[in-house]
Amino acid sequence: MGIAVQNVFKDLTYYSLFDVAEKARWLMTDIPWNEIDHSKVNAELIELVKTIAFGELTTYSATRSFMEMFVDDIDFTQWLAVWLYEETKHPHALIKWLHMVGAEVEGRFLMQGREITPMTPSRVEMLSFNVISEIVAGNTYAQTVELVDEPVLKQIAHHLAKDEMRHSVGFENYCRLCIKNAEDPDLERITCLRAAWAFLQDDGLINHPVFITVRNLDGVIGTETVKKIRKQVASRIGKLAGVDIPDPDRIFEVYSDFKKQYRQRKKTAALEAAGAAV
Ligand SMILES: [Fe+2]
Ligand SMILES: [Fe+2]
Repeated sequence: MGIAVQNVFKDLTYYSLFDVAEKARWLMTDIPWNEIDHSKVNAELIELVKTIAFGELTTYSATRSFMEMFVDDIDFTQWLAVWLYEETKHPHALIKWLHMVGAEVEGRFLMQGREITPMTPSRVEMLSFNVISEIVAGNTYAQTVELVDEPVLKQIAHHLAKDEMRHSVGFENYCRLCIKNAEDPDLERITCLRAAWAFLQDDGLINHPVFITVRNLDGVIGTETVKKIRKQVASRIGKLAGVDIPDPDRIFEVYSDFKKQYRQRKKTAALEAAGAAV
């Protein structure tokens, strides 16, 4: 962040995000574990829960990368600690459900699930991808609530869906701050739009853990949910970049127009500066 903070409690957004998180918090003991309806559990459902739980395990590696990248950001790194705690509860709840229905997972499963591909070196790009991935995860869990009949799993998915949507707001907050405090905010807006374009043109190109999970769940989340996700991503990233993306399919047009205008402004400014120097 690199900007001077005079009053930690007043100036850091973490404290208000923390209050919201505390109010929204659910406890593992809130889940009625002994009310699992075993007649609604089958091998297919167990595989689905394993796939989702596996995709939730990357938080550890992601947090390590985030902590390194944002080592000078006292606001974001505090929020990240809460995010890590809440995200760790997601595979915990799912693995406990698996245990309760007699499906055990090995330590190897947890270790393999922590592996991630190296992250982008751009802070804004990394945060933008996380805004998108939390929107994807939130909608995927909301769809899981509709899809599954087992009542306890339904309840877990409901909690997780709400957590993920709240996380997308947290990442959005820090992405906005990163853009605002950047040396060249418009250049960062281009990066933000490029992240949305990369996702919206073909999510098969991004190796973000959540997108990989969604690819593994292909056919489960359905076209209506995909449409909803695309609309939300276009609207939220558009707001972050300060532009209107009227239709997710027009993201490339919006991105390239913004980039063209940016280059034009830079060229004009350079010419004016050269003129003034003569
Ligand atoms: Fe999660
Ligand atoms: Fe999340």
